Amino acid sequence: MKIGIDKIGFYTPHIYVDMNKLAVARNVEPEKFTIGIGQDKMAVPPITQDSVTLGANAALEIIDQADKEAIDFVIFGTETGIDHSKSGAVYIHHLLGLKPNARCVEVKHACYGATAGIQMAKGHVALNPESKVLVIGSDIARYGLNTGGESTQGAGAVALLISANPRIMTLENNSVSLTADIMDFWRPLYSDKALVDGKFSNEQYISFFQKVWEKYKEETGMDLEDFEAMCYHLPYTKMGLKAMRTVLEDASEEVQERLKEHYRVSTLYNRNVGNIYTGSLYLSLLSLLELNDDIKAGSRIGMFSYGSGAVGEFFSGILEENYKEHLLVKEHKDLFESRKEVTVEEYEQIFEKTLPTDGSNIELDINEDSATICLSGLTDDMRQYVNKMR
Ligand code: COA
Repeated sequence: MKIGIDKIGFYTPHIYVDMNKLAVARNVEPEKFTIGIGQDKMAVPPITQDSVTLGANAALEIIDQADKEAIDFVIFGTETGIDHSKSGAVYIHHLLGLKPNARCVEVKHACYGATAGIQMAKGHVALNPESKVLVIGSDIARYGLNTGGESTQGAGAVALLISANPRIMTLENNSVSLTADIMDFWRPLYSDKALVDGKFSNEQYISFFQKVWEKYKEETGMDLEDFEAMCYHLPYTKMGLKAMRTVLEDASEEVQERLKEHYRVSTLYNRNVGNIYTGSLYLSLLSLLELNDDIKAGSRIGMFSYGSGAVGEFFSGILEENYKEHLLVKEHKDLFESRKEVTVEEYEQIFEKTLPTDGSNIELDINEDSATICLSGLTDDMRQYVNKMR
């Protein structure tokens, strides 16, 4: 039985800051951010968006009535969850109006959570071929103003519907995972900002990629020429390229050029959103699938998932016949075009406006936010969500 990605939804907040202007404000050369890091625009989440609303908005654009009846498992991959106990998946289940007889959980391992969710979803569909599983990767990447990681912040979510006989991509069963207990990036329970050893995390990302790729080649007998393209977890768009470059010389000139060009296309959405942690690899896949003009059905796409701390995995998928017809290319073009730029000062004010942590109530103005699903406030420490369509 073929199991894989049947639909892909995406959401990013309606405002962004220009990286050239952020560079000037931070007294660095703009090319460091746009070329050295590889980011053009950074999504800025208003206070009315959190990982739950971002994920729900991404899922909203792909879920129809038939899906609502078939989805019996919601897996919410996030590392910026909104509660230490209650799963964000339960709020999303409610906001989307899914059927009551469904299982809902939140999965965490840094940027790897959604990949873990996809592997669980595959197993679930293998045992229950009629089921559909909603897997979401949703996060707000926050390092802090004037920090080394600031240029790699971002916000957004990708929602994937995993089913039998998928219309976009069949996921192959070959995959290689690797785990090692390291401290390259983490976030203590008291903090809403991540701590990172930037250089070490770059090194570990590359080392994990090399190790899983070598083992994958050994186990499958495949090599670079068997892949039309490779997508990477992209904390910033230069990162995947750094890893890919270390193995490219094994391939012919033609294969190298093909992989490099497809890598470029796979970074276009991410360049304009920033890091969305769990969703970043799948945003890169979406960018490749929606923006390429030469990748045919039957092509194999490699995917490298990395979650600091650290877990890495290399796996692959085969594109289905007419996959392009099942993507929301126009909707995503409109989403990007409708965004509004904010100044660096406005971004700083938005960044510093956070929810109360002393138990007090707050009511938020959701009219400023063009998203359908928003956070409207906090009452007695309970988040209040609104679906404006209801
Ligand atoms: N023009 C072009 N490129 C420039 C430049 C300029 N004027 N100035 C600097 N650069 C390049 C550097 O050469 C470097 O490129 P390289 O990595 O290919 O050598 C790149 O810009 C970044 O410069 P660097 O001095 O290394 O930046 P930094 O010390 O600010 O750190 C990160 C960059 C990514 C480590 C930092 O942003 C970070 O910690 N990010 C969060 C963690 C993360 O994303 N980890 C990834 C694994 S999950």
